[in-house]
Amino acid sequence: MEQYAIRGGNPLEGEVVIAGAKNAALGILAAAIMTDEECVIENVPFVSDTRTLLKAIENIGATVRYIDRHTVSICGRGIASDHGLSVDDEYIRKIRASYYLIGALLGKYKYANVALPGGCDIGSRPIDLHIKGFETLGATVDIVSGGKVMAEAEQLVGSHIYMDTVSVGATINIMLAAVLAEGKTTIENAAKEPHIVDVANFLNTMGANIKGAGTDVIRVRGVSRLHGAEYSIIPDQIEAGTFMAMAVATRGNILIKNVIPKHLEAISSKLVEMGARVIEYDDSVRVMADGALRPTQVKTLPYPGFPTDMQAQIATVLCLAEGTSVVTESIFENRFRYVNELARMGAKVRVEGNSAIITGVRQFTGATLTASDLRAGAALVIAALAAEGVSVVDDIRYVKRGYEDFDEKVRRLGGQMEVVDSERSLQKFKLRAV
Ligand code: UD1
Repeated sequence: MEQYAIRGGNPLEGEVVIAGAKNAALGILAAAIMTDEECVIENVPFVSDTRTLLKAIENIGATVRYIDRHTVSICGRGIASDHGLSVDDEYIRKIRASYYLIGALLGKYKYANVALPGGCDIGSRPIDLHIKGFETLGATVDIVSGGKVMAEAEQLVGSHIYMDTVSVGATINIMLAAVLAEGKTTIENAAKEPHIVDVANFLNTMGANIKGAGTDVIRVRGVSRLHGAEYSIIPDQIEAGTFMAMAVATRGNILIKNVIPKHLEAISSKLVEMGARVIEYDDSVRVMADGALRPTQVKTLPYPGFPTDMQAQIATVLCLAEGTSVVTESIFENRFRYVNELARMGAKVRVEGNSAIITGVRQFTGATLTASDLRAGAALVIAALAAEGVSVVDDIRYVKRGYEDFDEKVRRLGGQMEVVDSERSLQKFKLRAV
């Protein structure tokens, strides 16, 4: 089994180029099958989640072609005929974003039968809001045996949908189903994340009529068909934030390129509160830190608040600040499982309900760690890069779901991090990395 071997202690310095946003890509790749014409999507991150979704799309009859490592051509013409609209395979059950195929297929064919989503285990992640939205548009939705969601409609008719909870996935999924519905749909209390705007922009490029994405009221006027389009995905806010946290934890100096600084404001402002310097340019940010870090309070919230997907990374940096910090998770339950791993490195963290109370320590020491989910894995990598000695991070398949060439990017910044797959290669790493 592959592991990351990391020897920490070097300040990370240099430049890193951020990939396309994974969570935008998942919505956009699903949306691309809603036309029979070709869509060419650029800046698709080459991570296992996007490759998994593309495999599933291919398995239901779409044509998927990589033009280069980050550019994918998708043509949904082959889907309806022979392959049926049933999505269930070893691939699709691995990712939670498989739920976007329900909205996309229901929107286009008025029928979808998709295996229930998997993804990271970070507490109960229901899809009741997605289902309620589809039903409000006129679909009948059943959870059928084998853990599949079956949705069907004679006709989808635009409607008024109020979301009880702000949900990224439900907002995108309802938008997908509504673009080809009859008439007008209003989604109130919609999520406002940058990737919602990106999916809406892509759908509009395909001929949809969506207004208000990025605010809490999205209005969709149904159109009769969508056409092919070319589109480039926005940069990944969370990958960028992870490298920002890494710069601060290792007291380094990193120029993070291909970002939209506005999307990073919640993260930048917390790092500045902690004593880091963040300089914004048009499409890059430089993050620097030296000396002592100050403690602070962080609470995760829907965008433009502090992203839950950065909670573990910022908490890791706060473990190295002088004094007591509190990190409160308000989106997901069960998102503090990485805390036990940090404790093995010397961190002092107490979890009380949905808050982690962190007492800063001077140093982490290397340890053998297990990634419990994607972002927890990234946080452990940050901790290991800041630690004294060698660490080993297990279960890196989680990290590979969302970080492209993570070890290579870290090495280019002067970090000592390699993928090893045996005790022998780990020993070799230990001898080499000093
Ligand atoms: C998406 C992101 C994930 C991120 C999360 C919050 C993708 C593929 N994943 O996940 O990386 O951590 O947004 O920013 O984009 N909820 C319900 N009922 C529902 C749907 C959600 O109660 O039908 C609840 C969830 O349990 C959670 C909250 O709403 O407590 C927010 O979840 P949501 O925004 O839907 O997250 P995801 O779309 O799963």
